[in-house]
Amino acid sequence: MKTLLMTAALAVFATGSIAATPDEAMTKAGCMACHTKDKKLVGPAFKDIAAKYKGQDVTAKLMDKVRKGGSGVFGPIPMAPNTPDKINDADLKAAIESILKT
Ligand code: HEC
Repeated sequence: MKTLLMTAALAVFATGSIAATPDEAMTKAGCMACHTKDKKLVGPAFKDIAAKYKGQDVTAKLMDKVRKGGSGVFGPIPMAPNTPDKINDADLKAAIESILKT
């Protein structure tokens, strides 16, 4: 967790983003309207996403999915696209890495 926070902090320095942690970035981007850490809402719980991809290197793949949106992995309900004006690449990467560690 410490390493993750350091990574997020570095990402903030590198991009000038005001988001301080992946949680804050995801709240700001509206992810938490559809996701929670441990309960299915509109989208799957972060712990279910983490369980599904345990041990796999899927950060890039999931960044792409969150950007473009789509359905079919967890069910028929689609995720809406999430554009860089909502969450920049550095924050999105930190967010995915934190989701995968849930
Ligand atoms: C409008 C509701 C909604 C919002 C907003 C939303 N999601 Fe999702 N998300 C979903 C749904 C529904 C799925 C399941 C998609 C599927 O089954 O393929 C999903 C799936 C995912 C997955 C797993 C994708 C896969 O293919 O396994 C990740 C990671 C994720 N969301 C992260 C995010 C992040 C980060 C944000 C904010 C930038 C976000 N989501 C915003 C509804 C949403």
